[in-house]
Amino acid sequence: MRIKLGTKIGLTYLLIIFTVMLVFGYLIMHDIDQSFISERKNVLLGYANIIAERAAPYLPRQDAAYLNYLAEDFGESIGHRVLIFATDGTVLGDSSGLNQGQVLTVPVVASALQGESVSQTNYYPDFGRLLYLAVPVAAGKQIVGAIFISADINDIDRRLAQTRNRLFLAATGSAVVAFLLSLLLARIITVPVARLTRAATKMSAGDYGYQVKGSSRDELGQLAASFNEMSKKIQQEDKVRRQFIADASHELRSPVAALKVLVESLLLKPPESKEETLEFLTDINGQLDRLSKLVNDLLLLSKIEKNESSLKKEPVSIKQLLIEVKENLKPLAAAKQIEITITAGDNILWPVDRDMLYRAVYNLVDNAIKYSSAKSEVLLSSTANEENLTISVKDQGIGIAQEHLAKLFTRFYRVDKARERATGGIGLGLSIVQEIVNLHGGRVSVNSAPGCGTEFVISLPYN
Ligand SMILES: Nc1ncnc2c1ncn2[C@@H]1O[C@H](COP(=O)(O)OP(=O)(O)O)[C@@H](O)[C@H]1O
Ligand SMILES: [Mg+2]
Repeated sequence: MRIKLGTKIGLTYLLIIFTVMLVFGYLIMHDIDQSFISERKNVLLGYANIIAERAAPYLPRQDAAYLNYLAEDFGESIGHRVLIFATDGTVLGDSSGLNQGQVLTVPVVASALQGESVSQTNYYPDFGRLLYLAVPVAAGKQIVGAIFISADINDIDRRLAQTRNRLFLAATGSAVVAFLLSLLLARIITVPVARLTRAATKMSAGDYGYQVKGSSRDELGQLAASFNEMSKKIQQEDKVRRQFIADASHELRSPVAALKVLVESLLLKPPESKEETLEFLTDINGQLDRLSKLVNDLLLLSKIEKNESSLKKEPVSIKQLLIEVKENLKPLAAAKQIEITITAGDNILWPVDRDMLYRAVYNLVDNAIKYSSAKSEVLLSSTANEENLTISVKDQGIGIAQEHLAKLFTRFYRVDKARERATGGIGLGLSIVQEIVNLHGGRVSVNSAPGCGTEFVISLPYN
């Protein structure tokens, strides 16, 4: 069964209040009862002593007439039954007149005749509670009798019952108030929780960026703020992902469309000469190259995106790596008569994922060659200290205008779309470089001005 939070809190409060009231009620009632009785006892003790003083001269003589008058007189004025005993237990005075002249055995009186003032409460089904009190009567050092008072203390019980009722009312009243307050408290908690639940449901239904409104400054407010931030981030990432898919599809479409046109025109009118065939095949081959480069880059990007733990780090000779890049790009450089020069220490060993770093440097050098005019020079250099490795790729090429520098590492970003499509540029090279360097915990920066060449610097920490 699903019990609402408010009800749960309310019932808990009720239980707490009733338990506390029960325990405290019991203790308090007991204390009040005791203090009422002892107060009553003290009052009666005072009367008993006065009677004892008055009776003292008449007891040795056993003046029953006077003693009886004394008992009646006091009995009437204090409202309780008063008995005056001789030492042998004979009743010499009785305010009720019931036991006059009889010998009675009353335990408290026996004690009083031994010289002790005693009291005792007794319960009788017919009368309720009675308080018995007896004090000795002394003449000089001798005990000559005892005074006994029997007091009806049912009024104390009535007062206690009244207090108990009041306590019960107070407990019930505060329980009701606590219950209502806890419902309110639960609302304070459940309303924002419900808001968050609604927001989470919206998010899971694909409504990225959904924001929880009107949050407080407490823990729930913080939770809502974190939720909003997360929601915004997911929305942003979703946007980037969608854009990426759109761009990738767009880029895939152009070589496919070009291939389709080439093949269709071949089908429509088969080439007449061998040269024409060669020309067509060269075009088709070029488009296929572009397509395969694009697919490879996309695959590589999706692979890099995983996480740092996917890196296979090992100590790598950086100079060796630079030489390998140079060797593999030699044909491209040679075609433009570009000289690649390497300056790097022979014994720089750095923990990196070799294939990945190779890929990054390759992309930079590939760009340097692509965006340089013929007969220029590309400088590949590397330095290292305890903590940091830098690899710089510097060219004397066309350079990049200031306004493009910030966006350079964005996927599919190209400075001059038209021209770079002709050079086969897709715009993924630098974003791949950046992903690889970031995965290594490093940074890549660029320094360039139109006409003055460009320098890209990768810096990697040692770890
Ligand atoms: N060394 C460079 N000199 C001048 N421009 C460059 C250089 N490297 C990159 N760029 C510019 O940055 C853009 C993005 O580079 P990149 O991501 O490698 O894409 P691609 O080379 O496929 O066009 C290039 O299109 C080019 O305009
Ligand atoms: Mg490139």
